[in-house]
Amino acid sequence: MSTQLEHLIDFDGVPIETIHAIFETTEVMAQVLERPVKRVPALQGFTVATLFFEDSTRTRLSFERAARAQSADVMTFARGGSSASKGESLRDTVATLDALHVDAYVVRHPAAGVPRQMAQWTKARIVNAGDGRRAPPTQALLDAYTYRQATGRAFEDTRLVIIGDVAHSRVARSNASLWHALGAEVVLCGPPTLVPPALAALPGVRIETQLDVAMEGAHAVMALRIQRERLTSARLASLAAYTAQYQVNEERLAGAAEDVVVMHPGPLNRDVEIDGALADGPRSLITKQVANGVPVRMAVLYHLLVGKGSR
Ligand code: CP
Repeated sequence: MSTQLEHLIDFDGVPIETIHAIFETTEVMAQVLERPVKRVPALQGFTVATLFFEDSTRTRLSFERAARAQSADVMTFARGGSSASKGESLRDTVATLDALHVDAYVVRHPAAGVPRQMAQWTKARIVNAGDGRRAPPTQALLDAYTYRQATGRAFEDTRLVIIGDVAHSRVARSNASLWHALGAEVVLCGPPTLVPPALAALPGVRIETQLDVAMEGAHAVMALRIQRERLTSARLASLAAYTAQYQVNEERLAGAAEDVVVMHPGPLNRDVEIDGALADGPRSLITKQVANGVPVRMAVLYHLLVGKGSR
């Protein structure tokens, strides 16, 4: 079976063999990043453009590093400072960049569906770096890869608990989809106003609004950022009330597996959704998650572009 990707927009239609192939390639890329010269010629001649219509630190910089480490040319587009601020449409922006011979776009946009729409407009590969509340698939790939690397536990024996502002979280949706496909049990937890009951329809997902019940037997606990910029008082009466009931801290891990690990996609609201000392402590995989963003994204770009031939 070919494991080359057409695009990476979400996990719909992506065979599990391709996910495992990306993880295998990630291991090779991680070795490249251990060498004195952290560069291979795999993507020489290709151009990768990052198009971010929302802010980012980790995702954009790690994609750019991932492209350069494989000798691709990189073009950076951000809404501010571009002609989008003069009213140029997204379609015209893509046509303009296509004229500059872009081979792959990494796109983040506040509107769900934009990456799939872009795939209709261009022959280049599309990687979704976050669209509305839908998906950032490479975040889920690096989360799952980091968990497996750090614990060695089989996904089939794993219970992942995702806690927090699930309602606004594309990270929760992508991780639920991927970890279920890999064989894990997934529990979504948070106040009823932040965990839409409709998400129980996601395959393999259970919803639990009581934190101590959700924590029972957890092997991985993922705290989500409280998205203050998107929250209304109807969703969350006060941050203090949220923290008192749902903050992930050492005390709240009492019912979890003894060797439970703690994860967070970043950026953190320290001492809000996660205790700062826990985030910096030995159970935390947060720094490893960030570091693994580079080899995982190197692997994704490789699977998207190699074998396609430059245009
Ligand atoms: N996790 C994540 O998407 O972080 P950035 O917004 O910094 O890219």
